Amino acid sequence: MALTGTESGGHGARRGRSTLPFVPLVVDLAAPVPVLAAGGIADGRGVAAALALGAVGALIGTRFQVTTEALVDPSVSKAVIEGRGQDTERNSVLDIARGASRPTEKYTARTLGHPCLDRWRGREDESARDSQARQDCRDDVARGAIPPMPVWAGEAVDLITDRPSAADLVTALAAQAEDALARAGRRHPDDRPRAQG
Ligand SMILES: Cc1cc2nc3c(=O)[nH]c(=O)nc-3n(C[C@H](O)[C@H](O)[C@H](O)COP(=O)(O)O)c2cc1C
Repeated sequence: MALTGTESGGHGARRGRSTLPFVPLVVDLAAPVPVLAAGGIADGRGVAAALALGAVGALIGTRFQVTTEALVDPSVSKAVIEGRGQDTERNSVLDIARGASRPTEKYTARTLGHPCLDRWRGREDESARDSQARQDCRDDVARGAIPPMPVWAGEAVDLITDRPSAADLVTALAAQAEDALARAGRRHPDDRPRAQG
């Protein structure tokens, strides 16, 4: 099973939990069912952390939006590369404006910030009842102030700085994870140099 923390890009439960404390909890509850950790993982150190928490691997979303094979508009890749974790926010504003079918009272999505979100942050119920509000957001899309679809992006966007192929990315993730685990292993007390004499 895959477990998604609230750091993740895209949709998740409105009342979600953070990846770090939630993965080991679910690993214990679900045993012997293998668990994949998701949410906020964008490099091999994150993969190593997922393994250290007891997951059998990581499910990665946001990072793969910036690969050469990703079927996203170049403006999305650019926004993800330029985005910062603090610019991402869980919300339903664009789902409401788009009339998305997903129940917004149960699910929010982490997106990059945008003008429509700035206008309706914290007043999403109100925007759902206000047809002009929804139209204003669609007008923002029409004049290019925000992309047609929300830029779904997680808190790990800070770690995304290049646009490799998916194959190169997977190779790099594995190498970085091995390095991170080896480094952590060397910090085991038994591996410290012994005092001489
Ligand atoms: C562009 C994008 C689209 C996504 N679409 C869905 C979706 O349709 N359904 C879903 O359950 N999760 C969706 N997700 C969430 C991912 O499946 C995954 O749980 C999440 O991206 C992991 O966190 P990360 O983005 O920090 O790597 C989406 C994520 C992104 C970035």
